[in-house]
Amino acid sequence: MIEEIEYKKRRETLVKKLKNNSLSVLFSAVQQIRSNDTEFVFRQNSNFYYMTGFREDNCTLVFLKKKGKTKTILFVQKKDKLKELWTGKRLGVKESKKRFLVDKVYAQEDFETMLKQYMQGITSINYDFNSYTDKAKVLHAYAKDMLSYSNLAKPIEQMRLLKSPAEIALIRKAIAITKEAHHKAMQVSKECRYEYELQAEIEYVFKKNAAFSDAYTSIVASGNNANTLHYIENDKPLHHGDLILIDAGCEYNYYASDITRTIPVSGKFTQAQKELYTMVLEVELTIIKMIKPNIKRTQLQKKSEELLCAGMVKLGILKGDVQKLLKKQKHKKYYPHGIGHWMGIDVHDQAPYKDENGKELLLQSGMVMTIEPGIYIDKDDRSVPKKYRGIGIRIEDDILVTDKSYENLSQGIVKTIKELEKHE
Ligand code: GLY
Ligand code: MN
Ligand code: MN
Repeated sequence: MIEEIEYKKRRETLVKKLKNNSLSVLFSAVQQIRSNDTEFVFRQNSNFYYMTGFREDNCTLVFLKKKGKTKTILFVQKKDKLKELWTGKRLGVKESKKRFLVDKVYAQEDFETMLKQYMQGITSINYDFNSYTDKAKVLHAYAKDMLSYSNLAKPIEQMRLLKSPAEIALIRKAIAITKEAHHKAMQVSKECRYEYELQAEIEYVFKKNAAFSDAYTSIVASGNNANTLHYIENDKPLHHGDLILIDAGCEYNYYASDITRTIPVSGKFTQAQKELYTMVLEVELTIIKMIKPNIKRTQLQKKSEELLCAGMVKLGILKGDVQKLLKKQKHKKYYPHGIGHWMGIDVHDQAPYKDENGKELLLQSGMVMTIEPGIYIDKDDRSVPKKYRGIGIRIEDDILVTDKSYENLSQGIVKTIKELEKHE
C-alpha cells in the first residue's frame, strides 16, 4: 500500500512547480449515469488518485500559493445518513482531517464560497483541462479573466512517469494476478467452446484475488478476430486449429497490468503458426533486451519495425528489399501499432512522451512500459501465402527500466512454444 506521507510528498513536489500567486485545483471524478438512476461503476480520476489516494467521488483538492507560502486544502463529501444508507459510508470532514496530511479539510458544499476568498491576489489558475465537472466550468470562467492559466494535469503526469517502490510493488501484484489468469486460460482453452468462456475464467481469477476490475476491457480474440486490434465482443466459438490472442490485465488497487499471450486453442501450434509466432517472439525478446536508461522509445519502435519487416520478407509475406519496404511503410499493413506505452495507474498511463520543448524523453530508471510487437494477417489477404491468412499474433510484457538495464516484470508468464504446448 502507499502511505499517506508519500501522497504528501507528491503534493509538495507538485507545489514547488507551481507559480507564486496561483490557485490550482484538482477535481475527483464524478458519478456517471448509466440510465435513469443507475450509475456506471465509479473509478477515481487518475491524477486525483495519484495526489490523494482517495477513492470517493465529488471531492476537490486545492493548492493555494500566495506570497511564497502554500496551503493544501481538501474538500470532501460531508457525512449524510440517508445518502450513506444507499451508496455507502463516506469518510466525512472530521475523519478526513485525521487521514490526509493536508492543511485544511472542508465540506464540498463550501467550495464555491471558499473559492471566492482564495481568488484574492491570484494571478494564475491551474486545473486539469480534462475535468468536465460543473465545478471545472466555474473555474474555467474565472480562468478566462486571469493573466495566465494552465493545465495542472501536465506536471502531475510528468511526475507519474517515474514510479516509486510502493507503486512498483502494486504493479508487481497486479501482474502476479494476471499471470495466474493467463496460465488458467492456457490450461482450460481446450475445454472452452466460446471466447467469453475464456474471458470468464480470466476475470474470475482477477476478482478472486481482489483485483476488482480489469485495467481495460479484455480482448479474447480467436482466429481471424485477432486481426481486429480492439476486438472486445469475445462472443465467437473457438475452433481447434486456431490461435487465440488474449490481451487481458487486471487493475489492482488502482495499478494496471497489460499482458498479451497468443496461444493455440488446442494446445498445439500448426507449422505456419509456429513460423509467425517465432518471428514475433524473437522480435519481442530482442526489443526487451535493448531497454536501458537513455534509450528512446522511437529507437525501440524503429528496430521492431525493421525486424518485423525483415521477418515478413523471409516468410514471403512481403516481397522486395527490406529497406525499400520500410521506406514505403509496407510493413505497417501487418504491424500497424506502437511497440509499447507507459503503464501505471492507467493502462496507457497519462504521461508524456516528449518534454516541454517537444524533445523525446529518454527512458529512465523507474519508468514502466509495455513491449508488444505483433503481426496481423487478414483471412482475405490474397497477397500473403495462404497458410498465414487469418492469423493474428501479439506478445506483450510489462517492463521496468532499472539503473543499468531493465526488469521484465511479467517474465513469469510463459510464452515460448515449448512452454505453451506443455501448458495444455
Ligand atoms: N491492452 C491495450 C494495449 O495493449 O495497449
Ligand atoms: Mn499495451
Ligand atoms: Mn494489451
